[in-house]
Amino acid sequence: MRMSFPKNFLWGGATAANQFEGGWKEDGKGDSVCDHITAGTVSTPRYFTNEIKEDLNYPSHEAIDFYHRYKEDIALFAEMGFKVFRLSLNWTRIFPKGDEVKPNQKGLDFYRNVFMECKKYGIEPLVTISHYEIPYYLMNQYGGWLNRDCIDFYLNFCKVVFNEYKDLVKYWLTFNEINCLMMGVGDILSGGIQSEDGPMQDFNQIPTRKQQQNRFQALHHQFLASAKAVVLGHEINPEYQIGCMVAGGAIYPYTCNPDDIVLAQQEMRMNYFCGDVQVRGEYPYFTKRMFEDMGIVVTMKEGDLEVLKKGTVDFYSFSYYMSTCATTDEDAKKASGNVIMGVKNPYLKASDWGWQIDSKGLRYLLNDLYGRYQIPMMIVENGLGAVDVLEDNTVHDSYRIDYLREHIKQMEEAIKDGVDLIGFTPWGCIDLVSISTGEMKKRYGFIYVDKDNEGNGSLDRFRKDSFYWYKKVIASNGKDLD
Ligand code: BG6
Repeated sequence: MRMSFPKNFLWGGATAANQFEGGWKEDGKGDSVCDHITAGTVSTPRYFTNEIKEDLNYPSHEAIDFYHRYKEDIALFAEMGFKVFRLSLNWTRIFPKGDEVKPNQKGLDFYRNVFMECKKYGIEPLVTISHYEIPYYLMNQYGGWLNRDCIDFYLNFCKVVFNEYKDLVKYWLTFNEINCLMMGVGDILSGGIQSEDGPMQDFNQIPTRKQQQNRFQALHHQFLASAKAVVLGHEINPEYQIGCMVAGGAIYPYTCNPDDIVLAQQEMRMNYFCGDVQVRGEYPYFTKRMFEDMGIVVTMKEGDLEVLKKGTVDFYSFSYYMSTCATTDEDAKKASGNVIMGVKNPYLKASDWGWQIDSKGLRYLLNDLYGRYQIPMMIVENGLGAVDVLEDNTVHDSYRIDYLREHIKQMEEAIKDGVDLIGFTPWGCIDLVSISTGEMKKRYGFIYVDKDNEGNGSLDRFRKDSFYWYKKVIASNGKDLD
């Protein structure tokens, strides 16, 4: 008899406001940085424009219109048996510019209604406070997270929502994939530290010293903001469970050449950098040398290190899609990914978007992270982005079921290993806009949404085969994976 998942295991699904809410100008909402990023494709990068241009497609503006359809969508999640639903707050719905003192009541009302709807079905919301949606005004007027003032703006936002939803929310995440700020993709999306028109991300660019300097300075401010938010949240409601969220990926040495082993270890350390600060409350031992090698100096004020020490998180959450390899061999073939980049592994297959599929890497990473931090773990993103075909009002997505089945099996192995895994929220439980390419075609959901890359479609929802499969998985608490 297979050991089952813990009794109160949190099965559910995950989303983010900028990728599924739409309603970008409704009820007093301000612009977020994401509202200024166009759709793209794998070969044409998404583009950031300061002016919103009529002839361009900005997918966050309508997205899949959860803003008007949340009742229908939450009913579908409830039908699958969700115990938890991960969503993020659109900062600019509550503070349209970001630096106001008083919130926009209509924005607060929207999320209250969403949480009430979840409560109706016994679904626990898991709320990401900031998921790639820094207010455009903060980028434009303050220079984003490079400016220390953002800590206070963020904390005011936290204070309002922690007080407002005390009776409705228990689980919070301070920043989505906070480690993305160390990489190019985070400059606009999470840091708001690049404000000229241009591509959202250039994979081939080697960061300059100045860029590295800015990234780590902005990250230091986010660490402080996160730590202060944890302390504040616990003061407002001692029952709050507040976690970090890190983009996770297993990195293997490409060969047993010691050069590859050391390189893989160095790259894995980048996986730990943010977790060490947020879980252990201090910068890791390798920081000094890392900053010296980059030639950067992060400005810290007196008391900052104490703040980090006090504001450690209650649980560790991460996204996991793929693994990569590390090698010093410059001719090795590169693997694709959105944030985790590396070298191709000849033993693995890849998704249509070139992301390497590696369920065992999830067990490896869970053990690795739990061994280091020894606090509850949650996988808050995982899944297969694929092209789906709607036939007779459904999608036969056996490929998605296979992907998830194998990952769930490895989660179970990790639990048997002794990892304290408390929840699983696969990404894009309803089809939504891809963050890396801005496409609709790259679908992760159990629920199909009728909309194409150009923005055409009825927005009607359809249950895929995986919808019924996941419903069984949840009902059997992970025993029935057939
Ligand atoms: C994660 C992000 O990195 O990956 C999500 O937190 C994102 O916002 C997800 O959507 C999947 O990536 P993509 O590029 O396929 O949307």
